[in-house]
Amino acid sequence: MKKFSVVIAGGGSTFTPGIVLMLLANRDRFPLRALKFYDNDGARQETIAEACKIILREQAPDIDFSYTTDPKTAFSDVDFVMAHIRVGKYPMREKDEKIPLRHGVVGQETCGPGGIAYGMRSIGGVLELVDYMQQYSPNAWMLNYSNPAAIVAEATRRLRPQAKILNICDMPIGIEGRMAQIVGLPDRKAMRVRYYGLNHFGWWTSIEDQNGNDLMPKLREYVAKNGYVPPAKDEHTEASWNDTFAKAKDVQALDPDTMPNTYLKYYLFPDYVVAHSNPERTRANEVMDHREKQVFSACRAIIEAGKSSAGELEIDEHASYIVDLATAIAFNTQARMLLIVPNNGAIHNFDADAMVEIPCLVGKNGPEPLTVGDIPHFQKGLMSQQVAVEKLVVDAWEQHSYQKLWQALTLSKTVPSASVAKAILDDLVEANRDYWPELH
Ligand code: NAD
Ligand code: G6P
Ligand code: MN
Repeated sequence: MKKFSVVIAGGGSTFTPGIVLMLLANRDRFPLRALKFYDNDGARQETIAEACKIILREQAPDIDFSYTTDPKTAFSDVDFVMAHIRVGKYPMREKDEKIPLRHGVVGQETCGPGGIAYGMRSIGGVLELVDYMQQYSPNAWMLNYSNPAAIVAEATRRLRPQAKILNICDMPIGIEGRMAQIVGLPDRKAMRVRYYGLNHFGWWTSIEDQNGNDLMPKLREYVAKNGYVPPAKDEHTEASWNDTFAKAKDVQALDPDTMPNTYLKYYLFPDYVVAHSNPERTRANEVMDHREKQVFSACRAIIEAGKSSAGELEIDEHASYIVDLATAIAFNTQARMLLIVPNNGAIHNFDADAMVEIPCLVGKNGPEPLTVGDIPHFQKGLMSQQVAVEKLVVDAWEQHSYQKLWQALTLSKTVPSASVAKAILDDLVEANRDYWPELH
């Protein structure tokens, strides 16, 4: 079987060890000949990489492993780029979340003003990766999960139309795993779903088992009471995520014919979200105090002991959809997956040039989107507004336009008025001086 060369861009990410363990666990279906890490923060990456080097030496000494901050070394001779960068890292995420909250507005990584600010930082970083890939390994594919995926996807569609990049998200996979638990199936792959929307902004319209039995009635009844909190409590879910899964109960009530993506709570219940946020301590603080500390201290322990048993790193099971995607392209499997792709008529009554998240068949030439058909006024109205926000952010980045960014913030359903939008924008401009293009 062919063996592949992969570079993980954002080698210093807290998710890198979990993805390495997941790649190792899936070697039978996606064999590796080489694995490289690339990051623009050499010191951060080194800790993760030195620990992964030990794990790889124990489990797969045949895989040629290296890490670098040099783009040419990183991007030469690769078949896949798996990208998960965070431009500005957690200190900037913290600002994205706290600045809007100071103005009484949702402070979130990918939704509302925080997502817009992060988008203005991410676009340049991801385009840079695309350019390195096109220069050094023009036949490679980039599987990108750098956020905010919706804005990044619109930017790559518009500014790098020829690029072999696929933008993906793990949220629907995570929710489907919960749905499977709710209806008593072994895993999400035992379900056949129909879903449409934007990234972090979508709805399931049909969920069946493999015999075609409709699972929606059972799900509807359960979710109306418990949201996506599954019957068996799992200790893994942190309290703040558990709140989000529970709140899906109210989100679902808006359209009981469908099952919602959890991120819709930020758009449909922004007042509730703000009332339940602590402006002094947001998700970025939780992640810095928990996941980041845990992953880096486990890596340090492994390095010090020289063996993987010295530190606890968890396999990122649900990231195996990344392997599903890579194998679909590598072996032309025609797997059915949710991807963020240009609409091009798949949703009949929606803009052709909107980036939508819909089921696609994936093969060696990339995704073939499936037809969705007409969507109702409620979803169409929400999606049109949000797509316009995402397009205005890319306009603003491209044209260095303060005006367009003010319009984007004003149009976001999370922001109550143009004056609040302006006040938030002025604070965000100040905070992002080192990252955003200078706006006029
Ligand atoms: P992190 O800060 O731990 O890791 C990001 C890494 O990217 C850092 O090591 C940083 O130095 C590096 N980086 C930043 N800018 C770079 C650039 N221009 N070039 C190269 N490297 C750069 O963040 P994390 O919490 O582990 O998340 C990583 C990314 O994955 C984020 O964008 C996050 O939103 C995303 N993510 C997406 C999904 C999804 O569903 N699509 C799921 C989980 C995480
Ligand atoms: C989900 C989303 C990602 C997002 C992540 C944030 O997995 O799909 O897009 O980055 O949650 O998780 P965190 O633990 O960093 O808040
Ligand atoms: Mn996501």
